[in-house]
Amino acid sequence: MPAKNIDELIALCKRRGFIFQSSEVYGGTQGLYDYGPLGVELKNNIKNSWWKSVVYERDDVEGLDASILTKQAVLKYSGHEETFTDPLVDCKSCGERFRADQVPDYCKKEDLTEPRQFNLMFKTNVGPIDDGKTFAYLRPETAQQIFTNFKNVVDSTSRNVPFGIAQTGKAFRNEITLKSFIFRVREFEQMELEFFVIPGTDEEWHKKWVDLRLDWWEKQGVSKKNLELYDVPKDELAHYSKATVDIMYKFPHGVEELEGIANRTDFDLGSHSKDQKELNLKSKVIENNESNAKLALKNEKNEWMVPFVIEPSAGVDRAVLAILNEAYSVEKVDDKERVVLKLKPHLSPIKAAVIPLKKNDEKIVAKAKEIKNKLQKLGLGRVLFENSGNIGKNYRRHDEVGTPVCITIDFETLEENTVTIRDRDTMKQRRISETKLEEEFKKLF
Ligand code: GAP
Repeated sequence: MPAKNIDELIALCKRRGFIFQSSEVYGGTQGLYDYGPLGVELKNNIKNSWWKSVVYERDDVEGLDASILTKQAVLKYSGHEETFTDPLVDCKSCGERFRADQVPDYCKKEDLTEPRQFNLMFKTNVGPIDDGKTFAYLRPETAQQIFTNFKNVVDSTSRNVPFGIAQTGKAFRNEITLKSFIFRVREFEQMELEFFVIPGTDEEWHKKWVDLRLDWWEKQGVSKKNLELYDVPKDELAHYSKATVDIMYKFPHGVEELEGIANRTDFDLGSHSKDQKELNLKSKVIENNESNAKLALKNEKNEWMVPFVIEPSAGVDRAVLAILNEAYSVEKVDDKERVVLKLKPHLSPIKAAVIPLKKNDEKIVAKAKEIKNKLQKLGLGRVLFENSGNIGKNYRRHDEVGTPVCITIDFETLEENTVTIRDRDTMKQRRISETKLEEEFKKLF
């Protein structure tokens, strides 16, 4: 049985240390969340899995980690200063503010003000002088500094199209209406790939990336039946997009965007370039007199060519929510409820719990620590030495946080060099030789 509603997931996240309200001791801040001991592991595992599939398992993508604070010019020429706005209305009756398309039913139309545009970017001062001029933005997407670093990456790696630059990191949006726990927040993380291709091959690459990304989501345990594709209609496209396909997921609150895959054309590289007239640009870019670089390549005819960009852009927080929702399950065992997170092992925050059966037997405890250290050294993720509570409670707790296996150390381990390995999903226990343990453990991943 899956989660009945989002509240069950929120309760688990708090109870087991996945996600907390930010600044909770001061009453919390809306739209901000902190990831706890297990949340940070889950998030890192999702990002690592993405990085592995997008960078390491391909030979045509490089990585980047650019600054979050972004010079005003970058977001001027990206078009964000002008267009990254939402229509905002006030309700004169309840005194609240809403995005014009998200006004709740309890507000009457006649109580609403005319919509006005509200820019979603956060500004902050850079340096000691607050003169209103020396400010930077907190980036609203990780993409822009990939574009501004295009020439740096090309020059330092000798890459040619088709190739991509990947980046994961925080993005910030001063959202007017927040939604469903970590679904729409003001500080979140993105996993973005800007894949540069020869103009004319862009539509084919767009399709290819939609398929590759769907495949990845399924490998993270998100079932196909809960995913659907949405072709964003022309009148809803972002200012840079020629076409966008959203991967939609059936979240507990409804079907909504999990990832967007956009064909950004040559808009961004073109808009951040100097000498735009020489570049054979296909899209209508923003005229730029401040850039000192041509973000372009020379083609075989020695003419300037600005690559088109296919951009798969996924939210880490939405990934956490979808993956937790998929994994959450409640079963009846001996007339009692068992909550189990059936996470794919590569995503589990704890890969194995090593449990000494007698907490105060020095030899058993020492052996459990030795085994924990051995498994930890394999580098597959966090292995926990678990020395609290009774064995039954330990099993239940590790079921609830998705630990794929529990390994119990007892007197037989000392005498016969065997351990008990318990599977999270089947709850079956097997006794295996200690010498086979590493091999068995590695097989999980
Ligand atoms: N660079 C393209 C871009 O940023 P987007 O559709 O605005 O496109 C991409 O964002 C992804 O980032 C979304 O599919 C979503 O997963 C995530 N995202 C966007 N806004 C978010 C928010 N306020 N809270 C959480 N995740 C968000």
